[in-house]
Amino acid sequence: MARRKYVVGNWKMNGLSAALADAQAIFAGAEDHSAVDVAICPPFTLVGAMVAAAPGSAVGGQDCHSATSGAFTGSVAAPMLADIGASLVIVGHSERREGFSESDADVRAKAEAGLTAGLSVILCVGEPRAVRESGGAIDYVLAQIAGSVPESFDAHRLAIAYEPIWAIGTGLVPTVVDVAAMHGAIRRALAARFGGAAEDMRILYGGSVNGDNAAELLDAGDVDGALVGGASLTAAKFMPIVAAAAALG
Ligand code: PGA
Repeated sequence: MARRKYVVGNWKMNGLSAALADAQAIFAGAEDHSAVDVAICPPFTLVGAMVAAAPGSAVGGQDCHSATSGAFTGSVAAPMLADIGASLVIVGHSERREGFSESDADVRAKAEAGLTAGLSVILCVGEPRAVRESGGAIDYVLAQIAGSVPESFDAHRLAIAYEPIWAIGTGLVPTVVDVAAMHGAIRRALAARFGGAAEDMRILYGGSVNGDNAAELLDAGDVDGALVGGASLTAAKFMPIVAAAAALG
């Protein structure tokens, strides 16, 4: 069965209550594109309110702790996200891996926690600029995949997001050829480890996706959707990306 396109907004540390109107506009617009799965991951503070403002829509967290509860000041557990109506969680974003020193083992534990809580998980990987320039990007990302993807999971609930760090928030994007090469390599690595389940796993591209480049990036081989930061904050910027995904089916 063909993989449905998946377009996910990562609001990062942006959004006060007034931004719920933007989320409502995005989810209302998404109803015109039923072939695409659309989700928004706002800051934790807005998750519950966004679920209430857009019932039935896919709202998620941007991180979770690997434990279900305990003395972890400032952290949020995956069952807590599920409890307030979230249906997904992003783990292993480069801003967490780099800024909060998260290792592949940490990311794997968080992915397992999210899956155990019944959430869908978007697990991020991606190389720094120096690694890309040295020609080692694919090896680097496949090592992240080997170390951070759990051993067993429901393939429909685990997506990979390939986000080259140098492309995030910079306006730079890899060539379509490089994106297709990376996504193909990720798919083959997943198939070697998990067999046919790899065909059901969605691999998203992320890093400076916008309404102008989405159609080309989403059409690259083995690209099943997009993880979008800056261009996901308003319907005006986000809906053209959703529409581009819909046009590709
Ligand atoms: P960007 O962020 O679209 O603003 O580059 C993407 C991400 O970090 O998920």
